[in-house]
Amino acid sequence: MLEKLTQLVNQARSELTAAQTSEQLEGWRLAYLGKKGALTLLLRNLGSLPADQRPEAGRVANEVKMTLESLYTARVEELRQGVLETELTRGALDVHLPGRPQQLGNLHISTQTLREIYAIFGRLGFDILRSPEVEDDYTNFQLLNIPQHHPARDMWSTFYTDLPGVILRTHTSPGQIYAMRKYYPQPFRVILPGKCYRYEQVSSRSEQMFYQVEAIAVGENITMSDLKGVLTYFARSMFGADRKVRLRPSYFPFTEPSAEVDIECFLCQGQGCPMCKHSGWLEILGSGMIHPQVLRNGGYDPDRYTGFALGMGPERIAILKHGITDIRYFFNNDMRFLQQFA
Ligand code: DAH
Repeated sequence: MLEKLTQLVNQARSELTAAQTSEQLEGWRLAYLGKKGALTLLLRNLGSLPADQRPEAGRVANEVKMTLESLYTARVEELRQGVLETELTRGALDVHLPGRPQQLGNLHISTQTLREIYAIFGRLGFDILRSPEVEDDYTNFQLLNIPQHHPARDMWSTFYTDLPGVILRTHTSPGQIYAMRKYYPQPFRVILPGKCYRYEQVSSRSEQMFYQVEAIAVGENITMSDLKGVLTYFARSMFGADRKVRLRPSYFPFTEPSAEVDIECFLCQGQGCPMCKHSGWLEILGSGMIHPQVLRNGGYDPDRYTGFALGMGPERIAILKHGITDIRYFFNNDMRFLQQFA
């Protein structure tokens, strides 16, 4: 019996060294330690030994079992290490190589400018409201005091659709109607940002899609000096402290009086330079006191309420602030342009 056990250990040891794969290892385990394995069979025969040999044989058999088990675990670990090592050399994985840098995106320059505008008006208590990009002629024009065939329509080249009366909005001003109808009869102030569309000949100065931000305030005691105060605060927040603001009489059908707003050129401090075409002033937006008919169309009685409105193009503002020479850069997705505003 003892002899058999010694023989078993030796044989097991050499077969184990020969085992290279996990299948071979498993085969070995079943052959020696499994329920029908060689060792189990030997142990089962212990009972047939003469009584005085049994204790010694039992002790040795147990030792053998433990030996085989620890040989087995050691071999498993050895093979695992071997596999790892060949993987490492063959795959030529250099764990010292620095990682590849993640490409980080950045906000679009229009988005950044929009957010600046939101923040400035936010500090003045203006909420943000959204209104539709697909409009009807009635809201985009007629409710804003621009009847069909009115010559002022020439200010907005319009994208029409196959559906009668359905157009893409040419400005954010129809948002004024939605805002008034939403808040009536409360006094309110909101900005209305969003995309606008015009059937333009695309050039360095005009695009067919661009953003606008409309601002509107309606209440019982709103005057033109409120408008001027908001404009001055806006211009100074956006373009630098003590910027001068100038209101130039103008015409829009939905405001009366209407004014175009210029800020003192921040490149030449109003001295005159190529950017301001030697005028010392940069035109940034249109504004005015809401026309009584437009107030009425929004539900507000013009005998009791007044209001101001203004509309600006964030791309125009970004062009001025960053010295961008061509509006087409904004939306043709050239990363070399967009990444400059990271
Ligand atoms: N909607 C005008 C445009 O797109 C801009 C504008 C002018 C908006 C005067 C206003 C305003 O609210 O009062 O050309």
